[in-house]
Amino acid sequence: MKTEDIILKLNNLKILSQELETPESERVEMIKKVSDYANQFIGSLDATKAFNNEDAFSLKITDQKKTFDSILNLYQKEVVEKGINAASGKHLGYIPGGGVFTAALADFIAAVTNPFSSVHYASPGAATIENEVVDWLKTVFSFPENSVGCLSSGGSISTLIAFTAARDQHKIKNEFIKKSVVYLSEQVHHSTQKALRIIGLEDVIIRYVSLDSHHKMKTDSLKELIQKDISAGLQPFMIVATAGTTDTGTIDPLDEIAEIAKNHKMWFHVDAAYGGFFIMTSKKDLFKGIEKADSLIVDPHKGLFLPYGIGAVLVKDSAAVLHSNYYTANYMQDISIDKMLKSPANLSPELTKHFRGLRMWLPLQFHGVEPIIACLEEKLLLVHYFRNKLVDLGFCLGPEPDLSISYFWYPFETDADEKNKLLMDEIHADGSVFLSSSVIENRFVIRIAVLAFRTKQENIDEAVEMIKTCLAKVK
Ligand SMILES: Cc1ncc(COP(=O)(O)O)c(C=O)c1O
Repeated sequence: MKTEDIILKLNNLKILSQELETPESERVEMIKKVSDYANQFIGSLDATKAFNNEDAFSLKITDQKKTFDSILNLYQKEVVEKGINAASGKHLGYIPGGGVFTAALADFIAAVTNPFSSVHYASPGAATIENEVVDWLKTVFSFPENSVGCLSSGGSISTLIAFTAARDQHKIKNEFIKKSVVYLSEQVHHSTQKALRIIGLEDVIIRYVSLDSHHKMKTDSLKELIQKDISAGLQPFMIVATAGTTDTGTIDPLDEIAEIAKNHKMWFHVDAAYGGFFIMTSKKDLFKGIEKADSLIVDPHKGLFLPYGIGAVLVKDSAAVLHSNYYTANYMQDISIDKMLKSPANLSPELTKHFRGLRMWLPLQFHGVEPIIACLEEKLLLVHYFRNKLVDLGFCLGPEPDLSISYFWYPFETDADEKNKLLMDEIHADGSVFLSSSVIENRFVIRIAVLAFRTKQENIDEAVEMIKTCLAKVK
Protein backbone atom coordinates (compact mmCIF):
# COMPACT_ATOMS: atom_id res chain seq x y z
CA MET A 1 0.00 0.00 0.00
CA LYS A 2 1.24 3.48 -0.87
CA THR A 3 2.14 5.87 1.95
CA GLU A 4 -0.59 8.38 0.87
CA ASP A 5 -3.20 5.59 1.06
CA ILE A 6 -1.98 4.54 4.49
CA ILE A 7 -2.23 8.14 5.71
CA LEU A 8 -5.74 8.46 4.33
CA LYS A 9 -6.87 5.27 6.07
CA LEU A 10 -5.13 6.28 9.29
CA ASN A 11 -6.96 9.61 9.29
CA ASN A 12 -10.30 7.84 8.95
CA LEU A 13 -9.47 5.32 11.68
CA LYS A 14 -8.27 8.13 13.95
CA ILE A 15 -11.66 9.83 13.71
CA LEU A 16 -13.52 6.57 14.40
CA SER A 17 -11.29 5.37 17.27
CA GLN A 18 -11.15 8.81 18.90
CA GLU A 19 -14.47 8.03 20.54
CA LEU A 20 -12.60 5.87 23.05
CA GLU A 21 -10.95 9.01 24.50
CA THR A 22 -13.93 10.50 26.31
CA PRO A 23 -13.69 14.33 26.20
CA GLU A 24 -13.26 16.20 29.48
CA SER A 25 -16.74 17.76 29.48
CA GLU A 26 -18.29 14.29 29.13
CA ARG A 27 -15.93 12.86 31.74
CA VAL A 28 -17.10 15.46 34.24
CA GLU A 29 -20.72 14.68 33.47
CA MET A 30 -20.19 10.90 33.70
CA ILE A 31 -18.31 11.12 36.98
CA LYS A 32 -21.14 13.23 38.39
CA LYS A 33 -23.66 10.59 37.26
CA VAL A 34 -21.64 7.76 38.78
CA SER A 35 -21.17 9.75 41.97
CA ASP A 36 -24.93 10.47 42.19
CA TYR A 37 -25.63 6.81 41.45
CA ALA A 38 -23.21 5.62 44.19
CA ASN A 39 -24.68 8.05 46.73
CA GLN A 40 -28.21 7.00 45.90
CA PHE A 41 -27.19 3.33 46.18
CA ILE A 42 -25.46 3.71 49.55
CA GLY A 43 -28.14 6.06 50.88
CA SER A 44 -30.94 3.58 50.20
CA LEU A 45 -29.20 0.42 51.45
CA ASP A 46 -31.05 0.33 54.77
CA ALA A 47 -34.43 0.52 53.07
CA THR A 48 -33.51 -2.05 50.38
CA LYS A 49 -33.97 -5.80 50.66
CA ALA A 50 -30.84 -7.90 51.07
CA PHE A 51 -32.08 -10.67 48.77
CA ASN A 52 -34.28 -11.00 45.71
CA ASN A 53 -34.55 -14.48 44.26
CA GLU A 54 -35.07 -13.38 40.64
CA ASP A 55 -32.92 -14.15 37.62
CA ALA A 56 -31.17 -11.48 35.53
CA PHE A 57 -32.21 -10.79 31.92
CA SER A 58 -31.61 -8.29 29.12
CA LEU A 59 -27.87 -7.87 29.59
CA LYS A 60 -27.05 -9.00 26.05
CA ILE A 61 -24.46 -7.09 24.07
CA THR A 62 -25.97 -6.03 20.77
CA ASP A 63 -24.95 -3.72 17.90
CA GLN A 64 -27.26 -1.09 19.36
CA LYS A 65 -25.31 1.49 21.40
CA LYS A 66 -26.83 2.67 24.69
CA THR A 67 -26.68 5.98 26.54
CA PHE A 68 -24.73 6.16 29.81
CA ASP A 69 -27.98 6.78 31.71
CA SER A 70 -29.65 3.71 30.25
CA ILE A 71 -26.59 1.58 31.04
CA LEU A 72 -26.70 2.72 34.69
CA ASN A 73 -30.43 1.98 34.81
CA LEU A 74 -29.90 -1.47 33.35
CA TYR A 75 -27.15 -2.18 35.89
CA GLN A 76 -29.41 -1.11 38.74
CA LYS A 77 -32.37 -3.20 37.54
CA GLU A 78 -30.60 -6.37 36.45
CA VAL A 79 -27.52 -6.51 38.67
CA VAL A 80 -28.11 -4.58 41.87
CA GLU A 81 -31.76 -5.46 42.41
CA LYS A 82 -31.32 -9.21 41.85
CA GLY A 83 -29.72 -11.89 44.03
CA ILE A 84 -27.87 -11.02 47.25
CA ASN A 85 -27.16 -7.36 47.95
CA ALA A 86 -23.58 -7.96 49.04
CA ALA A 87 -22.97 -4.32 49.98
CA SER A 88 -25.86 -4.39 52.47
CA GLY A 89 -25.45 -4.55 56.24
CA LYS A 90 -28.35 -7.00 56.10
CA HIS A 91 -26.23 -9.58 54.26
CA LEU A 92 -25.69 -12.17 56.99
CA GLY A 93 -25.22 -15.26 54.81
CA TYR A 94 -22.19 -17.09 53.37
CA ILE A 95 -19.22 -14.75 54.08
CA PRO A 96 -20.21 -11.10 53.72
CA GLY A 97 -17.64 -8.40 53.11
CA GLY A 98 -19.05 -5.04 52.17
CA GLY A 99 -16.77 -2.89 50.07
CA VAL A 100 -15.56 0.33 51.70
CA PHE A 101 -15.99 3.42 49.53
CA THR A 102 -12.34 4.54 49.65
CA ALA A 103 -11.32 1.18 48.14
CA ALA A 104 -13.74 1.82 45.25
CA LEU A 105 -12.06 5.18 44.66
CA ALA A 106 -8.68 3.46 44.70
CA ASP A 107 -9.95 1.02 42.06
CA PHE A 108 -11.07 3.93 39.93
CA ILE A 109 -7.68 5.64 40.19
CA ALA A 110 -5.89 2.33 39.50
CA ALA A 111 -7.99 1.76 36.39
CA VAL A 112 -7.55 5.32 35.06
CA THR A 113 -3.78 5.40 35.58
CA ASN A 114 -3.37 1.68 34.78
CA PRO A 115 0.19 1.10 36.06
CA PHE A 116 1.79 -2.29 35.40
CA SER A 117 2.05 -3.34 39.03
CA SER A 118 3.40 -6.86 38.48
CA VAL A 119 6.86 -5.80 37.36
CA HIS A 120 9.01 -3.39 39.42
CA TYR A 121 10.82 -2.04 36.37
CA ALA A 122 7.51 -1.12 34.69
CA SER A 123 6.09 0.70 37.71
CA PRO A 124 8.38 0.86 40.73
CA GLY A 125 5.70 2.77 42.68
CA ALA A 126 2.85 0.36 42.01
CA ALA A 127 5.04 -2.72 42.65
CA THR A 128 6.26 -1.11 45.89
CA ILE A 129 2.65 -0.58 47.00
CA GLU A 130 1.87 -4.25 46.28
CA ASN A 131 4.97 -5.28 48.25
CA GLU A 132 4.23 -2.84 51.06
CA VAL A 133 0.76 -4.28 51.54
CA VAL A 134 2.29 -7.78 51.76
CA ASP A 135 4.88 -6.50 54.26
CA TRP A 136 2.09 -5.03 56.38
CA LEU A 137 0.39 -8.45 56.38
CA LYS A 138 3.66 -10.04 57.51
CA THR A 139 3.66 -7.79 60.58
CA VAL A 140 -0.03 -8.49 61.31
CA PHE A 141 0.67 -12.25 61.35
CA SER A 142 4.21 -12.05 62.80
CA PHE A 143 5.72 -13.65 59.73
CA PRO A 144 9.48 -13.12 59.28
CA GLU A 145 10.72 -10.35 57.00
CA ASN A 146 12.27 -12.83 54.60
CA SER A 147 8.98 -14.61 53.96
CA VAL A 148 7.26 -13.80 50.67
CA GLY A 149 3.72 -13.26 49.54
CA CYS A 150 1.44 -11.72 46.99
CA LEU A 151 -2.04 -10.43 46.46
CA SER A 152 -4.50 -12.59 44.56
CA SER A 153 -8.13 -12.42 43.52
CA GLY A 154 -9.21 -14.28 46.68
CA GLY A 155 -8.82 -17.24 48.99
CA SER A 156 -9.14 -19.93 46.33
CA ILE A 157 -6.25 -18.63 44.21
CA SER A 158 -4.16 -17.91 47.33
CA THR A 159 -4.62 -21.56 48.33
CA LEU A 160 -3.38 -22.70 44.92
CA ILE A 161 -0.21 -20.63 45.34
CA ALA A 162 0.40 -21.90 48.89
CA PHE A 163 -0.21 -25.57 48.04
CA THR A 164 1.97 -25.37 44.94
CA ALA A 165 4.83 -24.12 47.13
CA ALA A 166 4.15 -26.97 49.61
CA ARG A 167 4.12 -29.50 46.78
CA ASP A 168 7.39 -28.20 45.32
CA GLN A 169 9.24 -27.96 48.63
CA HIS A 170 8.26 -31.54 49.48
CA LYS A 171 8.82 -32.71 45.88
CA ILE A 172 5.41 -34.40 45.75
CA LYS A 173 5.37 -35.76 42.22
CA ASN A 174 5.15 -38.98 40.23
CA GLU A 175 4.96 -42.08 42.43
CA PHE A 176 5.12 -40.01 45.64
CA ILE A 177 1.69 -38.48 45.05
CA LYS A 178 -0.21 -41.64 45.96
CA LYS A 179 1.88 -42.17 49.12
CA SER A 180 1.55 -38.60 50.42
CA VAL A 181 -1.05 -37.77 53.03
CA VAL A 182 -2.86 -34.48 53.68
CA TYR A 183 -4.72 -33.97 56.97
CA LEU A 184 -7.88 -31.89 56.95
CA SER A 185 -10.86 -31.08 59.12
CA GLU A 186 -14.38 -31.79 57.77
CA GLN A 187 -14.88 -28.07 58.21
CA VAL A 188 -12.21 -26.93 55.69
CA HIS A 189 -13.49 -24.68 52.93
CA HIS A 190 -14.08 -26.64 49.70
CA SER A 191 -11.42 -24.54 47.93
CA THR A 192 -8.91 -26.75 49.81
CA GLN A 193 -9.86 -30.02 48.09
CA LYS A 194 -10.36 -28.12 44.83
CA ALA A 195 -6.82 -26.68 45.00
CA LEU A 196 -5.33 -30.14 45.55
CA ARG A 197 -7.11 -31.39 42.43
CA ILE A 198 -6.09 -28.41 40.31
CA ILE A 199 -2.38 -28.65 41.17
CA GLY A 200 -2.21 -32.32 40.21
CA LEU A 201 -2.52 -33.76 43.73
CA GLU A 202 -5.95 -35.35 43.23
CA ASP A 203 -4.47 -38.73 44.14
CA VAL A 204 -2.94 -37.79 47.50
CA ILE A 205 -4.51 -39.54 50.46
CA ILE A 206 -6.81 -37.27 52.44
CA ARG A 207 -7.44 -38.00 56.10
CA TYR A 208 -10.23 -36.20 57.91
CA VAL A 209 -9.26 -35.58 61.53
CA SER A 210 -12.11 -35.89 64.03
CA LEU A 211 -13.42 -32.74 65.68
CA ASP A 212 -14.43 -31.84 69.22
CA SER A 213 -17.81 -30.41 70.25
CA HIS A 214 -16.63 -26.92 69.19
CA HIS A 215 -15.71 -28.22 65.71
CA LYS A 216 -11.98 -27.93 66.42
CA MET A 217 -9.49 -30.48 65.15
CA LYS A 218 -8.64 -33.01 67.86
CA THR A 219 -4.87 -33.02 68.02
CA ASP A 220 -4.73 -36.48 69.64
CA SER A 221 -6.59 -37.93 66.67
CA LEU A 222 -4.28 -36.05 64.32
CA LYS A 223 -1.20 -37.53 66.02
CA GLU A 224 -2.70 -41.03 65.91
CA LEU A 225 -3.52 -40.77 62.22
CA ILE A 226 -0.02 -39.57 61.38
CA GLN A 227 1.59 -42.40 63.40
CA LYS A 228 -0.60 -44.98 61.67
CA ASP A 229 0.28 -43.61 58.25
CA ILE A 230 4.00 -43.63 59.02
CA SER A 231 3.73 -47.23 60.20
CA ALA A 232 1.97 -48.10 56.95
CA GLY A 233 4.89 -46.67 54.96
CA LEU A 234 3.02 -43.55 53.85
CA GLN A 235 4.39 -40.02 53.79
CA PRO A 236 2.50 -37.45 55.92
CA PHE A 237 2.96 -34.27 53.90
CA MET A 238 0.69 -31.39 54.91
CA ILE A 239 -1.73 -30.33 57.65
CA VAL A 240 -4.37 -27.72 56.80
CA ALA A 241 -5.77 -25.84 59.79
CA THR A 242 -8.40 -23.12 59.65
CA ALA A 243 -8.44 -19.86 61.58
CA GLY A 244 -12.14 -19.17 61.23
CA THR A 245 -14.08 -21.95 59.49
CA THR A 246 -16.74 -20.91 57.00
CA ASP A 247 -19.64 -22.75 58.59
CA THR A 248 -18.87 -22.38 62.28
CA GLY A 249 -16.26 -19.61 62.65
CA THR A 250 -13.96 -22.02 64.52
CA ILE A 251 -10.24 -21.57 65.03
CA ASP A 252 -8.35 -24.87 65.14
CA PRO A 253 -5.71 -25.29 67.91
CA LEU A 254 -3.00 -23.72 65.76
CA ASP A 255 -0.10 -23.85 68.22
CA GLU A 256 -0.49 -27.57 68.92
CA ILE A 257 -0.95 -28.36 65.23
CA ALA A 258 2.19 -26.34 64.41
CA GLU A 259 4.15 -28.46 66.87
CA ILE A 260 2.86 -31.71 65.36
CA ALA A 261 3.74 -30.51 61.85
CA LYS A 262 7.23 -29.51 62.98
CA ASN A 263 7.86 -32.86 64.72
CA HIS A 264 7.02 -34.69 61.52
CA LYS A 265 8.67 -32.20 59.13
CA MET A 266 5.32 -31.56 57.50
CA TRP A 267 4.04 -28.42 55.76
CA PHE A 268 1.67 -26.45 58.00
CA HIS A 269 -0.90 -24.37 56.11
CA VAL A 270 -3.42 -22.05 57.77
CA ASP A 271 -6.58 -20.92 56.00
CA ALA A 272 -7.31 -17.58 57.65
CA ALA A 273 -9.30 -16.32 54.65
CA TYR A 274 -12.34 -15.39 56.71
CA GLY A 275 -11.01 -15.14 60.26
CA GLY A 276 -7.47 -13.82 59.85
CA PHE A 277 -7.99 -10.14 60.58
CA PHE A 278 -9.66 -10.90 63.93
CA ILE A 279 -6.05 -11.38 65.10
CA MET A 280 -6.08 -7.59 65.55
CA THR A 281 -8.94 -7.82 68.08
CA SER A 282 -9.52 -9.07 71.62
CA LYS A 283 -9.47 -12.60 70.13
CA LYS A 284 -5.72 -12.39 69.46
CA ASP A 285 -4.83 -15.25 71.84
CA LEU A 286 -6.84 -17.75 69.82
CA PHE A 287 -4.43 -17.19 66.93
CA LYS A 288 -1.34 -18.26 68.85
CA GLY A 289 0.76 -20.46 66.60
CA ILE A 290 -0.39 -18.89 63.32
CA GLU A 291 3.08 -17.33 63.02
CA LYS A 292 4.51 -20.86 62.82
CA ALA A 293 2.62 -21.68 59.62
CA ASP A 294 4.61 -22.43 56.47
CA SER A 295 1.88 -20.75 54.48
CA LEU A 296 -1.14 -18.66 55.32
CA ILE A 297 -3.99 -17.22 53.30
CA VAL A 298 -6.12 -14.24 54.31
CA ASP A 299 -8.82 -12.34 52.42
CA PRO A 300 -8.89 -8.54 52.66
CA HIS A 301 -12.19 -8.76 50.76
CA LYS A 302 -13.60 -10.41 53.86
CA GLY A 303 -12.13 -9.13 57.14
CA LEU A 304 -10.81 -5.80 55.84
CA PHE A 305 -14.19 -5.09 54.22
CA LEU A 306 -12.69 -4.35 50.79
CA PRO A 307 -14.65 -5.01 47.59
CA TYR A 308 -14.55 -8.58 46.22
CA GLY A 309 -11.40 -9.49 44.35
CA ILE A 310 -8.52 -9.26 46.82
CA GLY A 311 -6.93 -12.16 48.67
CA ALA A 312 -3.40 -12.62 49.96
CA VAL A 313 -0.96 -15.43 50.59
CA LEU A 314 2.18 -15.49 52.75
CA VAL A 315 4.79 -18.24 52.46
CA LYS A 316 7.96 -18.67 54.52
CA ASP A 317 10.02 -20.58 51.95
CA SER A 318 10.67 -18.09 49.16
CA ALA A 319 12.54 -20.68 47.08
CA ALA A 320 9.46 -22.91 46.98
CA VAL A 321 7.31 -20.05 45.68
CA LEU A 322 9.91 -18.88 43.16
CA HIS A 323 10.33 -22.47 41.93
CA SER A 324 6.96 -22.45 40.18
CA ASN A 325 6.37 -18.75 39.56
CA TYR A 326 9.71 -17.16 38.62
CA TYR A 327 10.23 -17.07 34.91
CA THR A 328 12.03 -15.01 32.36
CA ALA A 329 11.81 -14.62 28.62
CA ASN A 330 13.61 -12.82 25.79
CA TYR A 331 11.06 -10.02 25.73
CA MET A 332 11.84 -9.32 29.41
CA GLN A 333 15.56 -8.78 28.89
CA ASP A 334 15.42 -5.09 29.92
CA ILE A 335 14.53 -6.10 33.47
CA SER A 336 17.48 -6.72 35.82
CA ILE A 337 17.55 -9.72 38.19
CA ASP A 338 17.62 -7.37 41.17
CA LYS A 339 14.36 -5.75 40.08
CA MET A 340 12.91 -9.17 39.18
CA LEU A 341 12.92 -10.12 42.85
CA LYS A 342 10.86 -7.04 43.69
CA SER A 343 8.26 -7.95 41.09
CA PRO A 344 4.97 -9.51 42.28
CA ALA A 345 4.79 -11.47 39.00
CA ASN A 346 7.61 -13.73 40.21
CA LEU A 347 5.62 -14.85 43.23
CA SER A 348 2.28 -15.44 41.54
CA PRO A 349 0.91 -17.14 38.42
CA GLU A 350 -0.39 -13.75 37.24
CA LEU A 351 1.60 -11.40 35.02
CA THR A 352 -0.68 -8.63 33.79
CA LYS A 353 -3.30 -7.95 36.45
CA HIS A 354 -5.42 -5.31 38.09
CA PHE A 355 -3.37 -3.09 40.43
CA ARG A 356 -5.24 -4.42 43.47
CA GLY A 357 -2.65 -3.29 46.03
CA LEU A 358 -4.00 0.27 45.79
CA ARG A 359 -7.49 -0.69 47.02
CA MET A 360 -5.91 -1.94 50.26
CA TRP A 361 -3.06 0.57 50.61
CA LEU A 362 -5.25 3.66 50.13
CA PRO A 363 -7.90 2.78 52.77
CA LEU A 364 -5.16 1.74 55.24
CA GLN A 365 -3.38 5.07 54.70
CA PHE A 366 -6.59 7.08 54.87
CA HIS A 367 -8.56 5.39 57.68
CA GLY A 368 -5.78 3.66 59.62
CA VAL A 369 -6.54 0.37 61.36
CA GLU A 370 -8.53 1.73 64.31
CA PRO A 371 -11.96 1.78 62.61
CA ILE A 372 -11.28 -1.64 61.09
CA ILE A 373 -10.53 -3.13 64.50
CA ALA A 374 -13.61 -1.41 65.98
CA CYS A 375 -15.73 -2.86 63.18
CA LEU A 376 -14.37 -6.37 63.79
CA GLU A 377 -15.00 -6.09 67.55
CA GLU A 378 -18.53 -4.91 66.76
CA LYS A 379 -19.14 -8.04 64.64
CA LEU A 380 -17.97 -10.27 67.51
CA LEU A 381 -20.47 -8.63 69.85
CA LEU A 382 -23.28 -8.61 67.31
CA VAL A 383 -23.18 -12.38 66.86
CA HIS A 384 -23.63 -12.78 70.64
CA TYR A 385 -26.46 -10.26 70.62
CA PHE A 386 -28.10 -12.20 67.78
CA ARG A 387 -27.68 -15.52 69.61
CA ASN A 388 -29.24 -14.12 72.80
CA LYS A 389 -32.27 -12.90 70.85
CA LEU A 390 -32.65 -16.29 69.12
CA VAL A 391 -32.65 -18.11 72.46
CA ASP A 392 -35.48 -15.80 73.57
CA LEU A 393 -37.43 -17.03 70.50
CA GLY A 394 -36.87 -20.68 71.49
CA PHE A 395 -34.14 -21.55 68.96
CA CYS A 396 -31.28 -23.97 69.65
CA LEU A 397 -27.77 -22.67 68.98
CA GLY A 398 -24.47 -24.14 67.85
CA PRO A 399 -21.57 -23.89 70.33
CA GLU A 400 -20.27 -20.52 71.49
CA PRO A 401 -18.41 -19.21 68.40
CA ASP A 402 -14.74 -18.20 68.38
CA LEU A 403 -15.48 -15.41 65.90
CA SER A 404 -18.52 -13.89 64.17
CA ILE A 405 -20.20 -16.95 62.62
CA SER A 406 -22.69 -19.19 64.36
CA TYR A 407 -25.75 -21.32 63.55
CA PHE A 408 -29.17 -22.16 64.86
CA TRP A 409 -32.20 -24.35 64.30
CA TYR A 410 -35.70 -24.58 65.72
CA PRO A 411 -36.42 -27.72 67.79
CA PHE A 412 -39.62 -28.72 65.99
CA GLU A 413 -40.95 -31.91 67.60
CA THR A 414 -41.32 -33.74 64.28
CA ASP A 415 -39.54 -33.45 60.90
CA ALA A 416 -37.16 -30.85 62.30
CA ASP A 417 -34.89 -30.77 59.21
CA GLU A 418 -37.82 -30.40 56.82
CA LYS A 419 -39.38 -27.64 58.88
CA ASN A 420 -36.11 -25.76 59.34
CA LYS A 421 -35.73 -25.94 55.56
CA LEU A 422 -39.21 -24.45 55.20
CA LEU A 423 -38.18 -21.72 57.62
CA MET A 424 -35.10 -21.02 55.46
CA ASP A 425 -37.36 -20.80 52.38
CA GLU A 426 -39.62 -18.32 54.16
CA ILE A 427 -36.59 -16.23 55.16
CA HIS A 428 -35.37 -16.21 51.54
CA ALA A 429 -38.83 -15.36 50.23
CA ASP A 430 -39.00 -12.41 52.63
CA GLY A 431 -35.50 -11.27 51.64
CA SER A 432 -35.35 -8.20 53.90
CA VAL A 433 -32.28 -9.80 55.52
CA PHE A 434 -30.20 -12.55 53.90
CA LEU A 435 -29.15 -15.71 55.76
CA SER A 436 -27.88 -19.01 54.35
CA SER A 437 -28.04 -22.60 55.55
CA SER A 438 -25.75 -25.57 55.97
CA VAL A 439 -25.69 -29.13 57.27
CA ILE A 440 -23.67 -29.52 60.44
CA GLU A 441 -23.38 -32.89 62.19
CA ASN A 442 -26.14 -34.20 59.90
CA ARG A 443 -28.56 -31.49 60.99
CA PHE A 444 -30.03 -28.78 58.72
CA VAL A 445 -29.06 -25.46 60.30
CA ILE A 446 -29.35 -21.78 59.46
CA ARG A 447 -26.10 -19.83 59.60
CA ILE A 448 -25.43 -16.35 60.93
CA ALA A 449 -22.34 -14.73 59.43
CA VAL A 450 -21.76 -11.22 60.72
CA LEU A 451 -18.96 -9.62 58.76
CA ALA A 452 -20.35 -6.86 56.56
CA PHE A 453 -18.90 -3.56 57.81
CA ARG A 454 -22.36 -1.98 57.51
CA THR A 455 -24.04 -4.52 59.84
CA LYS A 456 -25.22 -2.71 62.96
CA GLN A 457 -27.48 -3.62 65.91
CA GLU A 458 -30.54 -2.32 64.00
CA ASN A 459 -29.91 -4.85 61.22
CA ILE A 460 -29.78 -7.71 63.71
CA ASP A 461 -33.02 -6.46 65.29
CA GLU A 462 -34.61 -6.44 61.84
CA ALA A 463 -33.34 -9.99 61.23
CA VAL A 464 -34.79 -11.22 64.52
CA GLU A 465 -38.20 -9.66 63.79
CA MET A 466 -38.22 -11.20 60.33
CA ILE A 467 -37.23 -14.66 61.64
CA LYS A 468 -40.02 -14.41 64.24
CA THR A 469 -42.60 -13.68 61.52
CA CYS A 470 -41.27 -16.50 59.30
CA LEU A 471 -41.27 -18.96 62.20
CA ALA A 472 -44.92 -18.23 62.91
CA LYS A 473 -45.73 -19.20 59.29
CA VAL A 474 -43.95 -22.58 59.61
CA LYS A 475 -45.18 -23.52 63.10
C1 LIG B 1 -12.32 -20.19 55.21
C2 LIG B 1 -12.38 -19.88 53.74
N1 LIG B 1 -11.34 -20.23 52.96
C3 LIG B 1 -11.32 -19.98 51.63
C4 LIG B 1 -12.39 -19.36 51.02
C5 LIG B 1 -12.35 -19.08 49.54
O1 LIG B 1 -12.15 -17.73 49.33
P1 LIG B 1 -12.59 -17.00 47.96
O2 LIG B 1 -14.07 -17.10 47.89
O3 LIG B 1 -12.10 -15.61 48.16
O4 LIG B 1 -11.93 -17.70 46.84
C6 LIG B 1 -13.49 -18.97 51.79
C7 LIG B 1 -14.65 -18.29 51.16
O5 LIG B 1 -15.65 -18.03 51.77
C8 LIG B 1 -13.49 -19.24 53.18
O6 LIG B 1 -14.52 -18.90 53.97
